[in-house]
Amino acid sequence: MYERKEIAPEQIEAQRQFCERIKDAISDRPHFALVDTYGCQQNESDSEILRGWLMDCGYGLTTDPAQADMIAINTCAVREHAEQRVFGNVGALTHNKAKNPDLIVAVGGCMTQQESVKTRLRDSFRVVDLVFGPHEVWRFPELLWQAMQRHGRRGNKGRVIAAEPSDGVVAESLPRQRDSGIKAWLSIMNGCDNFCTYCIVPHVRGRERSRRPADVLAEARQLAAAGYKDITLLGQNVNSYGKGLDDGVDFPDLLRAVNDIPGDFVVRFMTSHPKDATEKLFRTMAECGKIAPHIHLPAQSGSSRVLKAMNRHYDREKYLDTVAMARSYLPDLVLTTDIIVGFPGETEAEFEETLSLVEQVRYDAMFTFIYSPRTGTPAASMPDPVSRAEKQVWFDRLLESANRISAEKHAEYVGKTFRVLVDGETGDPAHNLSARTKGGRLVHLSGDRALIGQFTDAAITDSSTWALFGETV
Ligand code: 5AD
Ligand code: SF4
Repeated sequence: MYERKEIAPEQIEAQRQFCERIKDAISDRPHFALVDTYGCQQNESDSEILRGWLMDCGYGLTTDPAQADMIAINTCAVREHAEQRVFGNVGALTHNKAKNPDLIVAVGGCMTQQESVKTRLRDSFRVVDLVFGPHEVWRFPELLWQAMQRHGRRGNKGRVIAAEPSDGVVAESLPRQRDSGIKAWLSIMNGCDNFCTYCIVPHVRGRERSRRPADVLAEARQLAAAGYKDITLLGQNVNSYGKGLDDGVDFPDLLRAVNDIPGDFVVRFMTSHPKDATEKLFRTMAECGKIAPHIHLPAQSGSSRVLKAMNRHYDREKYLDTVAMARSYLPDLVLTTDIIVGFPGETEAEFEETLSLVEQVRYDAMFTFIYSPRTGTPAASMPDPVSRAEKQVWFDRLLESANRISAEKHAEYVGKTFRVLVDGETGDPAHNLSARTKGGRLVHLSGDRALIGQFTDAAITDSSTWALFGETV
């Protein structure tokens, strides 16, 4: 049974005591920590909290593994490929530990919530001192302190494994080290209740729970006051925000409230589920000037039969209706999507339906994946007769289509001027600045680096599949 577990302020305070102890223990010389992140923005957001904790514990941050006294790897379980990379990279840390026996290695994130991974890390990766699940991020200092106490003891007595299947955790007032003063992630909810049949996320991140509107808005106000220009509301299914709370605030209400915060900034959000994309959402987006005219609306497939087998709760027609409704409110809408190729039992004719959906909708950008079986999900035990080679052929056809459409969409920007937010440098002398349109398209600009962190007008002179190119005006 789902239980919402709000962590009491005293429990967070207790974590701060562990920070003080760690700070004391490492005060002999400067210590450095490295946090390496795989996967989605939710993980990026959790890594910001880990970095916040580590700084409160007295560590400096580094990106150089050779300099690090503590390395935390925040893992992703969505596809097998990422998991294999993590195992490879964790194994390689054995060399770092041989050079620096005091090194503490922690592995966190979604992978650790799978029994098989936990066992493998425990039995085959002696280099790992601490395993912690996503539900334990709020008490990372305590776990790190325990790992430090046990460090050097033999066998499993020397390590801490804390990745229980508990969920429902909602923790406020955690420290957070954001890595830019321009763009910020703002996590509004955690977990997912949708149980798409291919997806591991509900199994590892637990049931969906929303932060309270007052807490989200207080953080948004702080970000606006601190001068952030681009705030992205994050969650696995943002547009079902508010479920289970008694505040009577749904996602469009929350968007409107963030929009009403004074300041010059853009509000983005991801990821939205098509089944929860309502007319109220699109009306709110159209009425609120700070909300980016962009929606990431994963279709996953263009075949109603496959969508049913995926447990997506919409069919092709309903998805197309949602897109048409969105475009009727937002004529300049930027639309992006995720597609899975080769779901178990998908036929070539069904794949062709996905291709035709893509041609019909014409996405600005797409993330395309070959289906990856995840142990414990229903799809992993469905018959899957199509070969990997055949799926690759389908995938390549889809990618060709996606890239052609992106390039055509980008070409439509040429000759026009857009307000963009300059967010960094490119390293390319011809177009030295990187920027984003309000709809989120990448622009490479030539201009003064003093513009970084500011909005400016950009005349678009050229385009490619991946980016627009222009001049500041
Ligand atoms: N195999 C391939 N792609 C997957 N995704 C989620 N689970 C799987 C899987 N088992 C994709 C979906 C989702 C995106 C984040 O990752 O398209 O929207
Ligand atoms: Fe996974 Fe579906 Fe939830 Fe997205 S909505 S996280 S694909 S179960």
